[in-house]
Amino acid sequence: MKDAIDFFISRFRSHLDPPHEPAAYFRPRPYRNAAVSFRKCSLADFDERRRTLVEEAGLNVFLFRADRIPGCDLLSDSGTGTMTMEQWAAMLLGDEAYGSNEGYFELKEQIARTFGPSWRQRPGLRTGEHEPLFIFHQGRAAENAFFSVLARELRRFGAPQAKPLSGGLVPELRTRIEHRMRPMRGPVAGDAPFYVIPSNSHFDTTEGNIADKLMVPLNLPCPEHLAGDESFPFRGNMDLAELESLLASERERVPVVYLTVTNNTGGGQPVSMENIRRVREITRAHDVPFFIDACRFAENAWFIRRREPGYADRSIESIVHEMFENADGFHISFKKDGLANIGGALCIREESAFTKRFPKFANELTDYQIMTEGHPTYGGLAGRDLRAIAEGLRTVTRREYLDLRIRQVERFGDRLRRLGIPTINPAGGHAIYIDVDRFFDGGSRDEDLRGVSLTALLLIAGHRFCELGLYAFGAFDGVREIPPEPRVNNVRAAVPRLAYEDRDLLAAAEAVKLIYDHRDRIPAVRVEYGRDLKLRHFKSRYSFVL
Ligand code: F0G
Repeated sequence: MKDAIDFFISRFRSHLDPPHEPAAYFRPRPYRNAAVSFRKCSLADFDERRRTLVEEAGLNVFLFRADRIPGCDLLSDSGTGTMTMEQWAAMLLGDEAYGSNEGYFELKEQIARTFGPSWRQRPGLRTGEHEPLFIFHQGRAAENAFFSVLARELRRFGAPQAKPLSGGLVPELRTRIEHRMRPMRGPVAGDAPFYVIPSNSHFDTTEGNIADKLMVPLNLPCPEHLAGDESFPFRGNMDLAELESLLASERERVPVVYLTVTNNTGGGQPVSMENIRRVREITRAHDVPFFIDACRFAENAWFIRRREPGYADRSIESIVHEMFENADGFHISFKKDGLANIGGALCIREESAFTKRFPKFANELTDYQIMTEGHPTYGGLAGRDLRAIAEGLRTVTRREYLDLRIRQVERFGDRLRRLGIPTINPAGGHAIYIDVDRFFDGGSRDEDLRGVSLTALLLIAGHRFCELGLYAFGAFDGVREIPPEPRVNNVRAAVPRLAYEDRDLLAAAEAVKLIYDHRDRIPAVRVEYGRDLKLRHFKSRYSFVL
């Protein structure tokens, strides 16, 4: 055996013909395949080339060619789903007028149907007047526009000087905010971050967009999640006591409170209706606007229906309406629960705490949108994309779709768990998160890069997972690593919608098991490039230390 990589390659090869798996699931899927795409390479291709390909990509999963993945591509559930025939048909009907195309009106109407009638433009207004819907080409473009315009609007109140945090803040929270401020000093004295944007947990792009404007993104995951309480049904919740403490003593620092449903950074875990309602009450009591990051709104609603008392007989649609009644605004990537391959939006309620506080916001946002994306009636998307999104929003709240979708992720998680792999339990709605700290029990590898080693080996095994842990969320201050606070250290397997069958996912689970069984042999990696960069996991290159 030449080295550890050769060892793993030989193990992967020996598992290509596993013992017979009895058919485990008798319930037929509520759809059938309408198109398939044959892979361009095979799992049997375990020669030296796979290793070379992975090394050529600097062991970085984002830089690895997708057509060289013979197994499951679980890098993201974003824009990676298979569209329905209805969506493809809708795309053909899309018209490409430069302004006010048909898809725009259809999407506007569908937003109100999906998220509730209060997201419809107020009756009596003309097209373009106080529209709640701002279209963007994807979620992060909406985030970028939102936080750019917000930062500009906040400057209207005068540039706040760096000011110490108030003594009233619970000490633990105070330490966490100071910890976050440390690597983000502004370019000029007195330009240190002043504003704080709390959330149950921000996604990495949201966090990046907030930090880029020298505001502090602050995660307040609930204590049950931090304690790893597997019996708690809503581990995506926000810590309400911490939110209350923050707003009671630092209200002027908080222009908006966010809640991400489901909580992607926190294990794809759902947020309860009770938690949404309480965040609403607390923010209202302090007159602070409340926004939702709605990427996986339908999956979250499914969990509320299944797990929260009083919702078992409710339709998914009515649960979604109730969730969004609470918010002053939301942003969404249609690449998730829009079931589309591209698209995003920001929706702002016309009469809300937000518009009251920032009356010029909508107009400024429209200017920003026109300069960066296009006219508000297409926002960086082709007319046909708008039609596909509207159609996707009609499908995503169907019970039989959500049952299938979330159960599939759950079965994948169950399999990993039964194989002994430490994961965040119960399974989230869109992904399984492997707990890297527990995976490497007793190991002695360079701590912050263990997740990267694991994803590199999985890529050699033929499956693409993603490190969302110490490397993705940590930072390097020039001397040492600053781990995320609270600590997050996962490797995520995100399941694309309507794209894979169970056996594909079970194959990926077996590859994880194989690596787990020999975890003491997993080679360390070193960073060759990019350790000190922002958003470094997208760009870094690594090599194995053998
Ligand atoms: N918010 C959340 C909760 C997300 O999960 C994402 C994307 C975004 C915002 C940004 O949306 O990709 O359309 O710009 N998440 C993907 C993921 C990329 O893999 O989890 P986007």
